[in-house]
Amino acid sequence: MHERWLEERHHEYYYKLAKKMDYRSRASFKLMQIDDRVDIFRDGDRVVDLGAAPGGWLQVAKERVGDKGFVIGVDLRPIQPLPGVPTIVGDITDDATMKKLLDMFQGEADVIISDMAPNICGHYSTDHARSIDLCTYAVNVCDRILKKNGKLVMKVFYGDMFNDLLKELERRFRVVKVHSPDASRPTSSEVYVIAKGFLAETRVELEIPDEKTAKKREFTVKGNFV
Ligand SMILES: C[S@@+](CC[C@H](N)C(=O)[O-])C[C@H]1O[C@@H](n2cnc3c(N)ncnc32)[C@H](O)[C@@H]1O
Repeated sequence: MHERWLEERHHEYYYKLAKKMDYRSRASFKLMQIDDRVDIFRDGDRVVDLGAAPGGWLQVAKERVGDKGFVIGVDLRPIQPLPGVPTIVGDITDDATMKKLLDMFQGEADVIISDMAPNICGHYSTDHARSIDLCTYAVNVCDRILKKNGKLVMKVFYGDMFNDLLKELERRFRVVKVHSPDASRPTSSEVYVIAKGFLAETRVELEIPDEKTAKKREFTVKGNFV
């Protein structure tokens, strides 16, 4: 009961703050807190936001990279226009969406952020497995467009495959840390992985078939995922 009360207070606090400060989601504060703590964004950075709807992280990223920076968002759901921030409606697990992202982004990213979450079914290990699956796609985006020494911030629902995901990230980045911002619900299983210093040794050259011939293809991350 006490836990539930705390949870509701916490939710309400960030909900009201987001409304007051004109952010599109409570999630904005998670990214702000992560950036304040571990220093993600630099002026002029180029950023890809995966799972960007309704746009709270896009707003924060855009503010923090400034006018010289560039931010693009991808989501299954349409995102209300945000000045200077292009968005793509699509599933990042589809080749066609990946191709669109690469066409629109043109070049390397300094930072990839992913707040992607599966539709929660309430079954802990299923939700965890789906979250891990989305994370492998975010890692694949890194392998395609993250520049050497680039950074990744990614949400994961914690569970038994978490350590294998960390191992995959440790193969790719100099520093990998796990963080739970205050704005995350106290009882949530979500954590954020922050990886810095992309080694670019797993870089995959793009060879995405054009849209007409594209079949859904698995972007598998090499390594010991189970
Ligand atoms: C928690 S919300 C993101 C909130 C966002 N960071 C914000 O601050 O407004 C998670 C999002 O992930 C998106 N998502 C889930 N699977 C996806 C996929 N395969 N491709 C693209 N987006 C996906 C969902 O549609 C949902 O909007």
